[in-house]
Amino acid sequence: MTVLDVDFVRSCFPAFKEELPRRTAFFENAGGSYVAGPVLERYFHFYTANKVQPYGASEICRVAGEQMDAGRQAMADLLGVDPGSVTIGPSTTQNINTLAQAAASRIGPGDAIIVTGQDHEANIGAWERLCRRNGAELRTWPVNAGGELELAALESLVDDRVRILCMTHSSNIVGTINPLEEVIRRVRPLGARVVVDGVSFAPHSWPDIPLLKPDAYCFSTYKTYAPHLGIMYVAPEFAAELDPQCHYFNVQYPEKRFDAAGPDHASIAALAGLADYFSASHRHHFGNDEGSLYSRTQDVSGLMNTHETALCQRLLDGIADLPLDVLGRPHMEGREANIALYSDRVSSASLSQALGKADIAAGHGHFYARRLLENAGIRDTEDGVLRVSFAHYNTVDEVDRVVTILRQQF
Ligand SMILES: Cc1ncc(COP(=O)(O)O)c(C=O)c1O
Repeated sequence: MTVLDVDFVRSCFPAFKEELPRRTAFFENAGGSYVAGPVLERYFHFYTANKVQPYGASEICRVAGEQMDAGRQAMADLLGVDPGSVTIGPSTTQNINTLAQAAASRIGPGDAIIVTGQDHEANIGAWERLCRRNGAELRTWPVNAGGELELAALESLVDDRVRILCMTHSSNIVGTINPLEEVIRRVRPLGARVVVDGVSFAPHSWPDIPLLKPDAYCFSTYKTYAPHLGIMYVAPEFAAELDPQCHYFNVQYPEKRFDAAGPDHASIAALAGLADYFSASHRHHFGNDEGSLYSRTQDVSGLMNTHETALCQRLLDGIADLPLDVLGRPHMEGREANIALYSDRVSSASLSQALGKADIAAGHGHFYARRLLENAGIRDTEDGVLRVSFAHYNTVDEVDRVVTILRQQF
């Protein structure tokens, strides 16, 4: 069986050539990952060789435009979708805000939007503001005591008044992979659109949009080894129902319709480096370049996920007897490698500090999912939870360091 070669992976991340990242066990990945070498190369190249207004008549402007086109095409190919269905904005928060504006004219009194009690604020606030402004009803799919979403609790919220259901693929705190396919299967026949926040999910499992068929799917590339951009797939049938949010003279370009910010040229060009990285990893692990970029990326992502899952299980095993609670499942079945811990004996802040002193980066707080912590009964949401979030470049040794330090706190 092919397993992830972590030495190869680390050799692809220039951060590990630097002293500080090399000695730090980095478990803040849900806040942003290190950047893959091929992405940095493309980024620096754009800034060095082509930092001009792209798409002009001169050679230098033409080449700059080609690099941006390559970045857009690479992202679409990585996802296995049409480039026109992908908006590349500055962040997921901005993209979802723009999407809510775009949907505004079809939401009014008598309509309902469902959000969850588990989401990051980015996929709640924009919809709450829209409902308030347009006199529509906001319904919240509540979490259970463990912070998880149960399908049974959705049943009573769904009817033919629901226009949009907004949910996270997996929460940036709880980590459970939500039953997206089942939700889509239930609500779509009633005419509801499903908007998915995949920001926390994507770094652990590259999203399979052709399989899931969401109406909109958002994630942010600063968590997937690239600069900060928000990627938003909008299915063509949903896009056709929405009002463009771009300059009026750009409406004929589908990739610009929901871009209310204007493109970050160098970062978009750098996205082609993600394709380079996944391709190189596929070649290294499977010995070929066969199949589409989408299918090769899915294969590589599977290796990455298996590696992270094993590491995270090792952490859970190592702390199982400590007076530490895990928000969500205390095992890796059906969850991603992103663990939120808390204790009634020691504050999350002091756990984070103790790890920090040992060159282990793992933050604490509510991570902008404050409503989730309130819903899960965590009283001090500022202290919040200690979050240990993995990336595929983490190692067994790093996990053991976390376990050792946590054990010393009790
Ligand atoms: C689950 C989740 N959704 C949305 C966001 C917001 O993404 P962005 O920072 O790109 O706006 C984050 C950021 O941490 C997140 O973790």
